[in-house]
Amino acid sequence: MSMTRRKFEHLSVVLFPLTLGVSAVLAALRYLMPLPRRPRDKSVTIDEKAEYFTKPGAAPVKVEFNGATVFVVHDGKKIRAFDAKCTHLGCNVNWRSDNEDFFCPCHTASFARDGSVTAKPATTPLVEYAVAPIGDDGVVMVLDQKVQQA
Ligand code: FES
Repeated sequence: MSMTRRKFEHLSVVLFPLTLGVSAVLAALRYLMPLPRRPRDKSVTIDEKAEYFTKPGAAPVKVEFNGATVFVVHDGKKIRAFDAKCTHLGCNVNWRSDNEDFFCPCHTASFARDGSVTAKPATTPLVEYAVAPIGDDGVVMVLDQKVQQA
């Protein structure tokens, strides 16, 4: 059976809108029913042991944790973990070893080792994660718990 030009045109007029409609319905279903999320990790273990962080001038260690970038640092009193997201508008901060602070390249806010704001426009400290008590093995573990700021 051969297809005439007229049959082909007729088929195209039917199939093209049908394909568009099916695509639109599939896209809408995908939007309404997103894929199940991967369960969150309860903690992440840092490669460096606790003694690394207590060395004078030790740079923070950067880890990825549940989709967030986290800096683990000693603030002079204890080991702490901060979300790298700037509290102004959400850019990621970087560690500046010259200034010994976290610097946001977007609008030049900066934060001290203890997460407190040292330069505006940010007005609230970096979000802090809990750190598990360090055991005899010296392993540092960041927990999936936010610490309430005082
Ligand atoms: Fe960091 Fe604006 S987003 S200073």
